[in-house]
Amino acid sequence: PNPSILILPGDGIGPEVMAEVRKVIDWYGTKRDLAFDVSEDLVGGAAYDAHGTPLTDETMAKAQEVDAVLLGAVGGPKYDALDFSVKPERGLLRLRKEMDLFANLRPAQCFDALADFSSLKKDVVAGLDIMIVRELTSGIYFGEPRGIIEEGNERVGINTQRYTESEIDRVARSAFELAMRRGKKLCSMEKANVMESGVLWREVVTEVGKDYPEVELSHMYADAGAMQLCRWPKQFDVIVTDNLFGDLLSDAAAMLTGSLGMLPSASLGKPMANGRPKALYEPVHGSAPDIAGQGKANPIACILSFAMALRYSFDNGDEATRLEDAIEKVLADGFRTADLLGEEGVDPISTTQMGDAVIAALDAS
Ligand code: NAI
Ligand code: MG
Repeated sequence: PNPSILILPGDGIGPEVMAEVRKVIDWYGTKRDLAFDVSEDLVGGAAYDAHGTPLTDETMAKAQEVDAVLLGAVGGPKYDALDFSVKPERGLLRLRKEMDLFANLRPAQCFDALADFSSLKKDVVAGLDIMIVRELTSGIYFGEPRGIIEEGNERVGINTQRYTESEIDRVARSAFELAMRRGKKLCSMEKANVMESGVLWREVVTEVGKDYPEVELSHMYADAGAMQLCRWPKQFDVIVTDNLFGDLLSDAAAMLTGSLGMLPSASLGKPMANGRPKALYEPVHGSAPDIAGQGKANPIACILSFAMALRYSFDNGDEATRLEDAIEKVLADGFRTADLLGEEGVDPISTTQMGDAVIAALDAS
């Protein structure tokens, strides 16, 4: 049977960028004999409008069965006043939680044609290709006790940073596996100097590292890591870190390379019976209500998310590279959606035109 993909376009620009990914998926089916069983369903506000819930049980069950889920984006002003229990983002949170997606992969990759776009010097970012692995299901965002309590005559806000050995072990393994497929270099970031969870984190990552003798493992305090990321990011290959530090470091690393419209992500869980990890691929950006429905959205983040699916779910690094090279060529040829325009005098192209340009580059590959 063909590998299966569940597409959840979602809200706002989600369906617009996903339409371009569909073209790419169809191209692989017809031109490369790489066919997928694709089904499509609702998530977020779109699901709420149709079913009164941001994710139906049927869609959730389907997501558990397929080889990979591709998601556009959820949310929008229309849904801001809804009760928290049915808000669009709850659909996404339910997917992440029930699929137990504990490893969030955020690449920071700089396409040469966009190096001028970075806020850093061109030689600092040109050719940059690093990956941050953020633990996604534990740590301070989930730890108990939490809350705001009365103490004496004032209130206290409390969160708890908490990691079990097994939680650290599994995300570390994902990161080492990734490093094995990349540059065989892994840097683990925590604050073992001031946090107990950091001490345990460093210990467990070091222990897991013994199973990966080929990977060069280093440790860095997360604050120093933030400095190094801005100073000379090319010193890194794969970085693994906890939920909180990963949230900050991945957003910072993302901006080394420019527009939100360019950034893909993957969230991976345990291997399924067929050996493939549970996986959800999505662009980093949201539903962009300010440009939705105008054909202005950049589809590249979503297309690059599919490239990650080719690499990490379908074990097809060659075709993933083909797709990334096609995007590199399109950018080198000067095609720009509005979000990529810095210089004057260039006319932006539309979402569909960008998708068509990628297909043309694939045809020429
Ligand atoms: P956003 O990422 O949707 O937009 C931020 C800015 O970047 C906007 O100016 C937007 O036009 C631009 N932008 C984003 N993606 C783009 C693309 N592909 N091409 C060109 N420009 C792009 O974040 P914002 O405005 O904070 O949130 C809007 C809605 O999206 C909210 O309802 C929020 O809750 C939701 N959201 C959903 C996420 C998800 O589904 N994973 C993630 C972040 C936000
Ligand atoms: Mg964030």
